[in-house]
Amino acid sequence: MQHEFSLAYAQALDSNDPLHSYREQFYAPYLQGKRAIYFLGNSLGLQPKTAQDEVMTIMEGWANFGVEGFFLGKDPWLNYQQKITPLLCDIIGAKKEELVTMNHLTVNLHLLMISFYQPTATRYKIICEAKAFPSDQYAFQSQVKLHGFAPADAIIEVHPKEGTELITTEDILATIEAHKDSVALVLFSGINYYTGQVFDIKSITQAAHKAGAYAGFDLAHAAGNIKLQLHDWQVDFACWCNYKYLNSGPGAIAGAFVHERQLSNNVLPRLQGWWGNDVANRFKMGNAFTPTATAESWAMSTSPMMLLAAHKASLEIFAAAGFDNLVTKSKALSDYLFFVLNHINQPVEKFKIITPINPDERGCQVSFSIHQNAKAVFDTLLPFGIFADWREPNVIRVAPVPLYNSFEEIYIFAELLQQILNAA
Ligand SMILES: Cc1ncc(COP(=O)(O)O)c(C=O)c1O
Repeated sequence: MQHEFSLAYAQALDSNDPLHSYREQFYAPYLQGKRAIYFLGNSLGLQPKTAQDEVMTIMEGWANFGVEGFFLGKDPWLNYQQKITPLLCDIIGAKKEELVTMNHLTVNLHLLMISFYQPTATRYKIICEAKAFPSDQYAFQSQVKLHGFAPADAIIEVHPKEGTELITTEDILATIEAHKDSVALVLFSGINYYTGQVFDIKSITQAAHKAGAYAGFDLAHAAGNIKLQLHDWQVDFACWCNYKYLNSGPGAIAGAFVHERQLSNNVLPRLQGWWGNDVANRFKMGNAFTPTATAESWAMSTSPMMLLAAHKASLEIFAAAGFDNLVTKSKALSDYLFFVLNHINQPVEKFKIITPINPDERGCQVSFSIHQNAKAVFDTLLPFGIFADWREPNVIRVAPVPLYNSFEEIYIFAELLQQILNAA
């Protein structure tokens, strides 16, 4: 599509956008009385206006019924998970039984690794991307050590090719093949948090299985951002946070997926807690653990109801908008963002876009590294009402999300960035 770099053009794109009004369903920061441009949905999504009412419903249940709130009131708590999972199926590409909402991302990564990383003396390696999110790296290191292996030997990182930022699928598959006799687990992110690169989850999973390993994914930057088909792709497990694209609040309750064929895999060890026990037995207070027949069997503790309520509020907006529609708009937004960034980056190149240009290899985040005075350029954005993200040493990440960002905001941002870069 041939774009134009003009406010009128961007506004015309907004008027043709059937999802444009969804932005009114979210609170946004205001600076000097003006709605700020919030490109940080990849960090903390904005608050749905319905979230407070959903949380208040739980508070009222608590006030009015005490512990009986589990069974009484408008939204009894006991089966609340079952209100969440159907809303997630489309977003994650999963069956209801394969989903559980629990804990936080790093905790879930550990819990799932307890099940899916069961190394032997000969098959003990984890293959992952170089520069995975630090919390994941710490999780990998501690899991490897827990089993008596040395991280330097057991963790195999796939690096970008010399002089580039991106990791090719070819290199990932070749690395799996090279370690096919010793790899126990292949664990990648769905989207790299720094570059915004989407990894080919299906091919990585196939290669891991062919090598006799499990395949798991950290979908922090993918869930609610790109189209996922975890069930069809045969992914063994995945986990994600809900505070980014899924707008469920700071420290939101997180999500996890276990493929249906693993739910009855009795070889998998699993840490147990009473909330994973079948609900028929859960309150009998006996010592027999009968795992729930779904991924909920990985849950251990009483669900934090206020967090679940905020999560539900956001998922209901996703359901109303339709996830496929959101993905279509997201592609259009990032396509326009690429256009305006390339437009202002000439005749002299002032920055380099490090996110893949191919729309199938990115979500809505675009990262670019600034050649000169990078931090000063970044620091000028916020006073002008632009919320973007800074990553050392010189990278700015912007994520226009389809639920609450507009084409006009992309244009305004690019015009301002052009001025700042020219003055820098
Ligand atoms: C890719 C990735 N993994 C893990 C984490 C850590 O998540 P949590 O603090 O919810 O455990 C984050 C947080 O932003 C992340 O982006």
